Amino acid sequence: MAEGSFLRFPDGFVWGTATASYQIEGAWNEDGRGPSIWDTFVHTPGKVCDGTTGDVAVDHYHRYQEDVNLMAGLGLNAYRFSIAWPRIIPEGVGAVNEAGLDFYDRLVDALLEKNVTPYTTLFHWDLPQALQNAGGWANRDICQQFADYAAVVVERLGDRVSHWITHNEPAVHSFLGHFLGVHAPGLTDPMATFQTIHHLLLSHGLAMKAVRAAARKLPEVGITHNLAPVHPATDTDADREAARRFDGVFNRMFLDPVYRGSYPEDIGRLLEIIMPKTEAGDMDIISAPLDFLGVNYYTRHVMKHEPDVFPLQAEEVYPEGREYSGMWEIYEPGMYELLTRLKADYSPGKILITENGIPVPDGKDFDGNVRDYRRIRYVRDNLVQVYRAIEDDVPVQGYFHWTMTDNFEWAFGHTMRFGLVYVDFASQKRTVKESGRWFAQVVRDNGVAPNASGPPFLPR
Ligand code: FCB
Repeated sequence: MAEGSFLRFPDGFVWGTATASYQIEGAWNEDGRGPSIWDTFVHTPGKVCDGTTGDVAVDHYHRYQEDVNLMAGLGLNAYRFSIAWPRIIPEGVGAVNEAGLDFYDRLVDALLEKNVTPYTTLFHWDLPQALQNAGGWANRDICQQFADYAAVVVERLGDRVSHWITHNEPAVHSFLGHFLGVHAPGLTDPMATFQTIHHLLLSHGLAMKAVRAAARKLPEVGITHNLAPVHPATDTDADREAARRFDGVFNRMFLDPVYRGSYPEDIGRLLEIIMPKTEAGDMDIISAPLDFLGVNYYTRHVMKHEPDVFPLQAEEVYPEGREYSGMWEIYEPGMYELLTRLKADYSPGKILITENGIPVPDGKDFDGNVRDYRRIRYVRDNLVQVYRAIEDDVPVQGYFHWTMTDNFEWAFGHTMRFGLVYVDFASQKRTVKESGRWFAQVVRDNGVAPNASGPPFLPR
């Protein structure tokens, strides 16, 4: 890669943004939508840091046409969104809510009308509360229930949608929701956490089958994992082993079953008593071939050995002298490291970057513009790393920026802004940020200039 040269991505590269139903839709109790675990969680005092909820979020349920117009205005050719299970089957199983299906029907038509290809995620964490009451992801029954829900969605949308993602980030949903309790359903139960991992993966396999059976157009189906390089805090055996353990639980625990049909052996030995219960045949279902792997990359993890930390004896550290966003260390080289590692260890046939982005404390400038040069720099530097990986034959075929508009950032509420489009949460007014204009140029050029951050402070 020549220093300073323009980096043109392969023809047909997919450029889009990604969202999640609970974070944008609002309309939490409209048109027959049932309650989800996130409704319960955010309505419990103290769970969201600024006390906000997704009741209204960015009102995308009512403003979807405006949001699609914004995507079209930026020239994006794809959009990854998720379906709220409780809109489709309010109780999780049983009666189907046609009004919920109608919403996504309208959304898909609006996208196609503007030549934006839909990439649809079936589960991005907003589980029907009724299913949580029955044990949630720790109850094996949910696996088939998820596949049945997937079939209902695909029967309605599968004539127009051909890209499907079964799950978003099983690791985050399992660990933050069931072990740390900082996401819905707010459990702190190690056994439930590991059983949830297995059932998310098993339900992924069953849902892939259901999607392929129900689709009228030959579909592409994959799963999205949140993955990260894991580095030792120091060059000692103890820290190296701590990093290896964390990598095992955070990365390999989710990749090995899908690509190798087994859980990592070292983790099985280490966590023997909390490893999930499996049944004969599960691993064959989980490891059925994927059409693509979705990769969400945000940061790396740096780990040190710490005997008192249950169950991994590993603790995250935050090296001095590094740059941090409101949520994570900014570590762009990790994108290249991760992608090349995935190729070396798992040889995926196709990869989509299904999320990548940065929270910036954006605000409007005197003239109403949002000058988020920090975001431009982050995305640009990550795209350079993606480009390097493609040059090394990693089959990355698309990039979805997290996210389209500012939204409800889970337990961070409204305190973290990730969008290419600024939202005034009181008025719901949308304003394209500098990063949005910059990203539109990247899409038009199908590439990025490594050293250009855009013209500062030009009047518009
Ligand atoms: C990912 C989630 C997404 C969003 C970003 C910032 O872990 O998939 O919903 O919260 O982080």
